[in-house]
Amino acid sequence: MPNFLFCNYHPQVLKETLVRHGFTFESETDTEVIPKLAKFVFDKANEGEGAQPVTFSQVVLEVMRHLEGAYALIFKSRHYPNELIACKRGSPLLLGVKELNEDINSGSAFHDAKFLSMDGHSKELFLSSDANAIVEHTKRVLVIEDGEVVHLKDGSVSILKFDNDKGRHSGAHSRPSSVQRALSVLEMEVEQINKGNYEHYMQKEIHEQPESLTTTMRGRLIRGGSCKAKTVLLGGLKDHLKTIRRSRRIVFVGCGTSYNAALAARPILEELSGVPVTMEIASDLVDRQGPIYREDTAVFVSQSGETADTLLAFEYALENGALCVGITNTVGSAIARHTHCGVHINAGAEIGVASTKAYTSQIVVMAMLALAIGGDAISSQARREAIIDGLFDLPNRVREVLKLDHEMKDLAKLLMAEQSLLVFGRGYNYATALEGALKVKEVALMHSEGMLAGEMKHGPLALVDENLPIIVIATRDTCFSKQQSVIQQLHARKGRLIVMCSKGDAASVSPGESCRVIEVPQVEDCLQPVVNIVPLQLLAYHLTVLKGYNVDQPRNLAKSVTTQ
Ligand code: F6R
Repeated sequence: MPNFLFCNYHPQVLKETLVRHGFTFESETDTEVIPKLAKFVFDKANEGEGAQPVTFSQVVLEVMRHLEGAYALIFKSRHYPNELIACKRGSPLLLGVKELNEDINSGSAFHDAKFLSMDGHSKELFLSSDANAIVEHTKRVLVIEDGEVVHLKDGSVSILKFDNDKGRHSGAHSRPSSVQRALSVLEMEVEQINKGNYEHYMQKEIHEQPESLTTTMRGRLIRGGSCKAKTVLLGGLKDHLKTIRRSRRIVFVGCGTSYNAALAARPILEELSGVPVTMEIASDLVDRQGPIYREDTAVFVSQSGETADTLLAFEYALENGALCVGITNTVGSAIARHTHCGVHINAGAEIGVASTKAYTSQIVVMAMLALAIGGDAISSQARREAIIDGLFDLPNRVREVLKLDHEMKDLAKLLMAEQSLLVFGRGYNYATALEGALKVKEVALMHSEGMLAGEMKHGPLALVDENLPIIVIATRDTCFSKQQSVIQQLHARKGRLIVMCSKGDAASVSPGESCRVIEVPQVEDCLQPVVNIVPLQLLAYHLTVLKGYNVDQPRNLAKSVTTQ
């Protein structure tokens, strides 16, 4: 096999090289470079009299050696009928293995992990980047690792390990070795990926939050006996809690909704742990190469566990010696497998691109994390017990707030023609403002901004007039009186106000008849973001459906952002 090492792996440079060799391109996507490169490698290898026939895996290995960045690829070629090759780097890839007599509903038959036999004749095989696509066929999967190449040929399957980076840097081909690994069993049910009686996944996922929150907390909250305190058990962290308590600081890292969930949990973690907590958007941490120390605990929050930016930030924190904790909804994901310890949020499969139930479960897990780190300090015992009681009661309060569905649909009718929406929050509910605005933005395709109410006078006030709708979150907590004054100031400038307040507070928050009020159940302050986001999720959902947009798959967005 000849060596085709190009001097640079950047797609643009590869593309220019291929164009110089007579290739034409039909799109601007980097992906198109890959099959063309494969064709180039194949042609070169077969050039000249007496050239040794090149195998399909040799072609793919050569292509992989020239690619940089994250990818998961499946190759098929008319030159190699009955063969298929899959490989990955950075992005997720699963091989589902279904025995032809497998009853996927029985599940239990496969609870003993088995090794994948090479003979695939009695099997059906599935390749996917997401377990949701596989679970309706089989629960038995092999999680493909970076540098591995899955080769399906004439009904048999083999997996080769190839040290891609070694080959790249030396310019030489490293010898692939054969891989034998146990299959894992997916812990999800087919029903989780059906819409049930709902019209859309997002709608189903919003409405199943009482159940998903219950599952998130199951077995983790201990009520305590007659003389025992109420407490929290997070098995995945128990050996690391001492180290976390002794950290110089806790750094939360995430993107989008996962970042917002961490932001919502930050105040309670600061309060109960006494450790400084800082926030990092994953891509920004990597861009800045911000300081991360050995004495830090870095908490990576990612429902997919595969977000490229979060993974890069994780590698960076690992290199810098921090203790790395993962909080994810995806068992077997890169974050779940590679962090030192962590907690699964167990929210169940989330299919809608816009995260809803994973967000509320993330907040609950991080509140439990705060309780676990807080330990048994006498000074905060009453506070911790009140939060634990609040957690037990939370699914019921979410059930109650879901009754606002019709009210939020009416509000959506009122707002659907608007160009913009502002959401003001502070304290625990600054995150709710950001997350509510993000939901509206991403599914209803309406410009919306979440803002820290404390920043109102420092610029945003100039936007206020009688047309721009503004949602102000003013539920009961230590920031309540400040939010009352924000409402007064916005009203004085003729702001078009929608106020979210605790049940029974409508009269004390509403500055006049023109103001619409959304009353929500009051819960423990640090859990209030879980309740408060629900009406905003419903608003985003109804706005989108009324506008006729695709609510489960908004344009230009993907569920897992596995590229930078
Ligand atoms: C928005 C949303 C995204 C994700 C972000 C990170 O609804 O879901 O903002 O939160 O892309 O994804 P994960 O949590 O998988 O790392």
